[in-house]
Amino acid sequence: INNGLAQTPQMGWNSWNFFACDISETVIKETADALVSTGLADLGYIYVNIDDCWSDMKRNPEGKLVPHQTYFPSGIKALADHVHGKSLKLGIYSDAGAFTCQVRPGSLHYEDDDAQLFASWGVDYLKYDNCYNLGIKPQERYPPMRNALNATGRKIFYSICEWGVDDPALWAGKIGNSWRTTDDINDTWASMTTIADLNDKWAAYAGPGGWNDPDMLEVGNGGMTYQEYRAHFSIWALMKAPLLIGCDVRNMSAETLEIISNKEVIAINQDPLGVQGRKVYVSGEDGCLQIWAGPLSGHRLVVVLWNRCSKSATITAGWDALGLESSTNVSIRDLWKHKLVSSTTMASYSALVDAHACEMYIFTPQTMTRSEI
Ligand code: DGJ
Repeated sequence: INNGLAQTPQMGWNSWNFFACDISETVIKETADALVSTGLADLGYIYVNIDDCWSDMKRNPEGKLVPHQTYFPSGIKALADHVHGKSLKLGIYSDAGAFTCQVRPGSLHYEDDDAQLFASWGVDYLKYDNCYNLGIKPQERYPPMRNALNATGRKIFYSICEWGVDDPALWAGKIGNSWRTTDDINDTWASMTTIADLNDKWAAYAGPGGWNDPDMLEVGNGGMTYQEYRAHFSIWALMKAPLLIGCDVRNMSAETLEIISNKEVIAINQDPLGVQGRKVYVSGEDGCLQIWAGPLSGHRLVVVLWNRCSKSATITAGWDALGLESSTNVSIRDLWKHKLVSSTTMASYSALVDAHACEMYIFTPQTMTRSEI
């Protein structure tokens, strides 16, 4: 796809993780309003994405998709107008199969008509799911919708939701703006950590224009602790994952808002270099003491010390593990404490990290002065 979008990972909100099928135009409108009133929109969360269950169970007699009359009585165009009025963008959902996962009509063999319809409504984003695919290869089902979206002349972000079944990182870069690398996330520490590890494998395939998608955020949905959610958000940011909020932003706790509003962590995700950070070092039992890191613009590095063990522990980042010369003087900024924590030539940096917590830093190697050389 060559739509110029996704120069950095997409940011916004999606209805699925919290609401599932319990959606309506009221929920979507109130969410758009809340993104603005909480300040999240100003931080870059601009896509308001409706997931499965927005449509009626059947196409109309002309073969067109129709919004569910009870839950979306004003139609999607009116909703798009409302969302655009807030300077936000509207996303919709369909499926590269005969039906969506919740058995609404799918877009397979209706790609052109549906893309034209979405464009006529003013839709800015399409999440395209993989259910009821009739056993047809994804490489044959996803390009027709790309072509159909391109043909509308409207810039529509194309989110491929193939769940990582057929290694989409290997082929989806030419087709979509992001591609799922895993099955659905759920609101547990086990799911979140497993998905982070699975997504890590595909780091080399991410970059401006197309991103690996380890699924949407669960921050604020209640199944993890504050520290676990902070780690979830930190690692998703480092992995250049889409930052799609998955909780009810109309009723968030102060802690949830604090996590997803961290400007310094968001800036890691949106860094113009666009390189996905990786797990670079493990130690401890079952490798539960971990260092994740990656390059940033301006010759800087992002470094996350992540304690996935059940007890607090000291994690040491050696300059060698980070690819730094041993004599390099590095200034270290803590992105959760929001302060400079060290300026050191010690060739390593250590921190005591609580169980299931992480620390996140920007490492800025200092250019050596003549006398130092
Ligand atoms: C499967 C996808 O992976 C989920 O994110 C969600 O879109 C559901 N389908 C909706 O049915």
